[in-house]
Amino acid sequence: MMKREKIKQILDKNSPMDSVLVKGWVRTKRESKEFTFLEINDGSCLKNIQVVSDHTLENYDDIIKITTGSAVSITGKLVVSPGKGQSLEIQAENVDIVFINPENYPLQKKRHTDEFLRTIAHLRPRTNKYGAVFRIRSELSYAIHQFFKNMGFFYIHTPIITGSDCEGAGELFRVTTLKNISDEKTDFYKDFFGKEASLTVSGQLSAEMYALSLGDVYTFGPTFRAENSNTSRHAAEFWMIEPEMAFCDIEENMGVAEKFIQYIIQYTIDNCKPDLDMFCKFVDKELMTTLDSVISRDFKRLTYKEAIDILIKSGEKFDYGVSFGNDLQSEHERYLTDIYYKGPVIVYNYPKTIKPFYMRLNDDNKTVAAMDILVPRIGELIGGSQREERLDVLKSRMQESGLNLSDYWWYLESRTYGSVPHSGFGLGFERLIMFITGITNIRDVISFPRTPGNIDF
Ligand code: 4AD
Ligand code: MG
Repeated sequence: MMKREKIKQILDKNSPMDSVLVKGWVRTKRESKEFTFLEINDGSCLKNIQVVSDHTLENYDDIIKITTGSAVSITGKLVVSPGKGQSLEIQAENVDIVFINPENYPLQKKRHTDEFLRTIAHLRPRTNKYGAVFRIRSELSYAIHQFFKNMGFFYIHTPIITGSDCEGAGELFRVTTLKNISDEKTDFYKDFFGKEASLTVSGQLSAEMYALSLGDVYTFGPTFRAENSNTSRHAAEFWMIEPEMAFCDIEENMGVAEKFIQYIIQYTIDNCKPDLDMFCKFVDKELMTTLDSVISRDFKRLTYKEAIDILIKSGEKFDYGVSFGNDLQSEHERYLTDIYYKGPVIVYNYPKTIKPFYMRLNDDNKTVAAMDILVPRIGELIGGSQREERLDVLKSRMQESGLNLSDYWWYLESRTYGSVPHSGFGLGFERLIMFITGITNIRDVISFPRTPGNIDF
């Protein structure tokens, strides 16, 4: 039995072979008098391989009837191509037709709108663009693990089903086995876990317990938010990378986050060139300039107060008013990154009133040691902080936030025993992919997006 070669391997080796076996799907077919040319893609890379079938092949009558998207298995000689546009091609000796696609295959045209492709999310990875998105997504996952492994972090799997609301924003999806629930009077002690449960919005609280044990840890998993904001940057199910570091303050935290983003971008440039080039050419002509702005210099760091001053002085007409104490809206973030600094910025020391309970209170009693990393086009890519390690301060912040302390007894106990300064952050994986590919809608970088009113696949 001959070993099947992936098209990527063949093109990487770039040398003729006496016999090869490739399997894939037909992207296009062209006929001349004596030959039929098939462009085959097997998903391993952006490029197709050209297969030339001579009219003397025994099933030539079937070969000329091959339709777009049909599946084939080809054996033949890999030779230097005399034609333009490819260095190698296969002279077919045998064309085995695995599947003939019907004529109504939706991906006949070369280009479709992203909106249309969203309606066929099960087929869109068969296009050049979406194939590239999901290959890059896979490569980035490896790069992320590699970065943390190199830094001596441990990968922790934190629960998907939880009994606490990490961000305190009330955006929880409930998990229950009860048939009837009403918001006020349900007896959750009868429920599966004996209390209210939900899907996690962040693995942070659990990760903190492990940082206070193993030192440096990270999580990389799905998170869920019932946020009703139907925007191009929010999904109800998204993936987050959350490092958590013991004996680490906000300054060091910013340093790790900056190095992390730069590493991932450099990795993509070094390892995903063909796919990245496609995005530079067809999706965002400014993409390389934007990516360069991230790897070529240190991120600008400024306090929330300084950011507010810049926004007020800008004279821009924003839809949302700017004043100390209000959260930055994406238009404000974009002004700082796209217009004012033309690159990524780290905004730190936010008012405590707009940030969650676990962030460390600064000496001014007004701000917390929070830090958000904002990048061009996307806005917030990372949210993080130094954590409140002082038991009494943490308790009073939780009370202020209206939390039920007894629900968090285990979290509080980590401040009773062996508590140390520690910090961490969360990076939204889809936003990172949007940033790196130039794609502007989060629905187009996750395989089957979940957004309000939409769970078709
Ligand atoms: O700023 P957030 O809410 O921070 C946390 O969850 C912290 N517990 C993280 C930590 O310190 N360990 O979310 C972190 C990041 C955001 O900066 C954003 O990139 C992404 O997660 N994110 C979303 N991405 C897609 N859809 C949503 N609905 C998102 N909400 C947050
Ligand atoms: Mg945030």
